[in-house]
Amino acid sequence: MKTLISGGTVITAIDITAADVLIEDETVVAIAAPGSHSWGDDADKVIDATGKYVVPGGVDPHTHMELPFGGTFASDNFESGTRAAAWGGTTTIVDFAVQTKGESLLGGFDVWMAKAEGECAIDYGFHMIAGDINDESLAEMDTLIERGVTSFKLFMAYPGVLYSDDGAILRAMQKAAQTGTLIMMHAENGMAIDVLRAQALERGETDPVHHSITRPAITESEAVHRAIKLAELAGAHLYIVHMSAKEGVAEVADARDKGLPVFGETCPQYLFLSIEDHLDAPGFEGAKYVCSTPIRAKAEGHQDALWMYLATNDLQVVSTDHCPFCMDDHHVYGTQKKLGLGDFTAIPNGLPGVEDRFQLIYHGGVVGGRIDLNRWIELCATAPAKLFGLYPKKGTIAVGSDADIVVFDPGVSWTKSVDQHHMDVDYSAYEGMEVKGKVETVLLRGKVIIEDDQYLGSKGDGAYLPRERMSVHH
Ligand code: URP
Ligand code: ZN
Ligand code: ZN
Repeated sequence: MKTLISGGTVITAIDITAADVLIEDETVVAIAAPGSHSWGDDADKVIDATGKYVVPGGVDPHTHMELPFGGTFASDNFESGTRAAAWGGTTTIVDFAVQTKGESLLGGFDVWMAKAEGECAIDYGFHMIAGDINDESLAEMDTLIERGVTSFKLFMAYPGVLYSDDGAILRAMQKAAQTGTLIMMHAENGMAIDVLRAQALERGETDPVHHSITRPAITESEAVHRAIKLAELAGAHLYIVHMSAKEGVAEVADARDKGLPVFGETCPQYLFLSIEDHLDAPGFEGAKYVCSTPIRAKAEGHQDALWMYLATNDLQVVSTDHCPFCMDDHHVYGTQKKLGLGDFTAIPNGLPGVEDRFQLIYHGGVVGGRIDLNRWIELCATAPAKLFGLYPKKGTIAVGSDADIVVFDPGVSWTKSVDQHHMDVDYSAYEGMEVKGKVETVLLRGKVIIEDDQYLGSKGDGAYLPRERMSVHH
């Protein structure tokens, strides 16, 4: 099967080229100037990309399909969530398998593999959440590495649930240093936050906005600082997830300036949403925007600072942390966000976004004049592919790469709404937002899965991706 994408502008993290792309079966086999070849003569399918951008499929390295949280489960399963990702131009996710307390690491991994197998619309890999660091689970990391899991997430937040103390963190980091794998850190001082939450509830402060007020920026930046010091002590590579506080990213920037292998990601919710405009909405509306780390005050300047850090490469990745919960009853799980009516500490943490990211970063970043086209691709595809051992198979358009390709129309303006999205959740975090640029056609390993506003794929198109170790070191 030969597919030709002709007449478009091919954008990678490095180049912007008027070029045609030839795909044979699942792979890009040639890229050439328009008019310099006769590939169209024997192509089985020709996609006309005139006036469009031809970009690598997005790589979202932080999703939580079906995550158990706060007495319910994230509302997207692997089928609905990966299909929605495809609609948004993302062709690879790396989700999180979970080891809970008392369970083995491999047991948790097998459960998540079974949930995803045969369900996914796009390719998928796993990080492993290590929720119980002990001699056995540290030894099991070796087996997981053989199975293609080369990154491990630890929590300094959520005491009593997924939390690891500093000793456990150091031991896991030492193991990561020995094995050349990456530690991903949820960096918030969970113990301090628990004190602030209890004190807020005692004062009768129960509304969603108190979720953020009881997680002030210093509880994030202190944890980021501590994680960096522990990683330095262990000699480990460290990646801080879902960063929302400018003070926390300043710690990452300092560490990188010293030459330490420390990396950071942020997510669209921290670039577009704020306490003033969203979390502090009247009534229980703010529950839509409850996630951890929290949405912060615009007046404190976090949004502008995060955009700046993305431009200066102090932050390397935009992921989604996709972890949706419905405001009204979910068709399988029933009550979700409303578990926290009258008590913000019981609101399940997380936002939908897997469908939104690629286009939102184009809109806010490129159209907004904050980053250029190459940086858009680097943040949403190339850098995550390199950091999580998927490059150059994923994350770029090059001869030999998987033909995961998005034809993107930069000229279309439209309005975001729950009515047009495909995620299994009953609200959009960006309802009513006017945006520019739209995903038009999506190919997964050469197969057209989105075209003419139709989903043409099927569940099971997506394959498990055993991952290599990271291919960047600073
Ligand atoms: O609020 C969030 N981020 N929910 C998902 C779990 C996590 O901490 O990443
Ligand atoms: Zn987290
Ligand atoms: Zn997460």
